[in-house]
Amino acid sequence: MGKIILEANEIYKSYANGRNKLNVLTNFTIKVHQGDVITIIGESGCGKSTALNIMSTLDQPDKGKVKIDSLDISKLNDMNLSKIRNQKIGFVFQSHYLLPEFTALENALMPAWIANKDDKKSAVENIFEYLGILKRKDHYPSQLSGGEKARVCLTRAIINEPLILFADEPTGNLDKKNSEKLVSLFQKINSDFNQTIILTTHNKELADFGNKKLILENGVLT
Ligand SMILES: Nc1ncnc2c1ncn2[C@@H]1O[C@H](COP(=O)(O)OP(=O)(O)O)[C@@H](O)[C@H]1O
Ligand SMILES: [Mg+2]
Repeated sequence: MGKIILEANEIYKSYANGRNKLNVLTNFTIKVHQGDVITIIGESGCGKSTALNIMSTLDQPDKGKVKIDSLDISKLNDMNLSKIRNQKIGFVFQSHYLLPEFTALENALMPAWIANKDDKKSAVENIFEYLGILKRKDHYPSQLSGGEKARVCLTRAIINEPLILFADEPTGNLDKKNSEKLVSLFQKINSDFNQTIILTTHNKELADFGNKKLILENGVLT
């Protein structure tokens, strides 16, 4: 087993819901080792996105601690937090959030530009080749299919070689064939580059590819 690169300890998160409190996460705890593929499955509304957002620094828990690469992320200032997001974390979301006025290549290069790495063009082209979308590199998002957009997002998420790749229902908008393709790409990235992956899904088949399959139910992981 690789070293522990993410730890979430006794995480609680609730939302105000009129007069009531909606407890979404209650004692959510997880340890992630380098090279793990963790799939978190659960019914719609059970808190998968909430958990992923907290683990990936996008949201803060009410209580509990998240450590990434041994750093307590609640102790980081905005600048260091942005740096961690840019350099240690990759995100793939169900909605792609590609920038419409930039090409596929430019979208995938964005995190590298932010990190002042100007020499990543051939790296993106290599990943595009690997993912089978190289001939689409100069297309704008509106000129790409759902499956192609998903692969551009995946490239953008891994271009800075993140410690952890997070994916929130990455196949949510794809048909069965493209979902299967995307899942096999995640697998390939894990086995070829030992990429650590945490992904959520409500699809049981998709969850099966994790080496750790977790169920989120009533705010806790089992
Ligand atoms: N910002 C928010 N304010 C209030 N309730 C929220 C907010 N975000 C999510 N919720 C509620 O919290 C629960 C968990 O949401 P979410 O984490 O998105 O679930 P999932 O991703 O598993 O579908 C849902 O019942 C949702 O309605
Ligand atoms: Mg969700």
